[in-house]
Amino acid sequence: MALIIDGKKISKEIKDELKEKVTALKGEGKNIALAVIQVGEDPASSVYVNNKKKACEYIGIESLSFHLPETITEEDLLEKIKELNQDEKVNGILVQLPLPKHIDEDKVIKTIAPEKDVDGFHPQSVGALSIGQKGFVSCTPAGVIQLLKRSGIEIAGKECVVIGRSNIVGKPMALLLLRENGTVTIAHSRTANLKEVAKRADILVVAVGKPKMIDSSYIKEGAVVIDVGIHRNEENKLCGDVDYDDVIEHVSAITPVPGGVGPMTIAMLMNNCVSSIE
Ligand code: GUN
Repeated sequence: MALIIDGKKISKEIKDELKEKVTALKGEGKNIALAVIQVGEDPASSVYVNNKKKACEYIGIESLSFHLPETITEEDLLEKIKELNQDEKVNGILVQLPLPKHIDEDKVIKTIAPEKDVDGFHPQSVGALSIGQKGFVSCTPAGVIQLLKRSGIEIAGKECVVIGRSNIVGKPMALLLLRENGTVTIAHSRTANLKEVAKRADILVVAVGKPKMIDSSYIKEGAVVIDVGIHRNEENKLCGDVDYDDVIEHVSAITPVPGGVGPMTIAMLMNNCVSSIE
């Protein structure tokens, strides 16, 4: 029987641990504040931003909300970020992506002070991760490592294959697995013989952004499968990048969608906020 990795339960454990830490920090007179910037009215972004604010409230982190109009200029947004960089009361700054087309996301990310970059997207944070130095780590891949560790799954010495090479998930995921002493391959849309490469994996992390693309023909018997994708199918039901029903008989452990990787992203964001003052 495969282990179904319960991301909801593990994220709750992490949030409860953080809540205790934040209570202790408050006892020492230390307050944590996260500035959350949303530009425009993208409904998905509104849901994510609200969930982040709720998590802050649960843990005892102050959330400062900045909901800016779709029409804001890039210059004005960068000014707002610079102001928050200077504000000593603000420990973390998060700009919800995507941004409207007239705003350069790279410029925005680079403007956030690295010591407040709780998303871990700043080139300095990514660079630190790649050379094994301290810095904020992108929340979704950091959450995957926690799912593996807290499920008792050994990474050291394992063949790890990451399918997907995005800056937010695939690349930092590969670096984190390497940091845990996995033997890591990054596969992507141009990889030749993708099935053969995927079938080498003891731990397969899938972040391709295509609903149910990975079926049992990509899976080595007994592999651990981590599904980072989230999509709505024709019946409005959530599904991942992995065809769960097809692979379930062949895996030793798997993350479901929903309730696997998804809830971990916010838990790790909260973790980054707490470590910003620790
Ligand atoms: N949009 C989708 N995921 C994320 C995330 O993790 N951080 C930010 N800032 N925006 C996002």
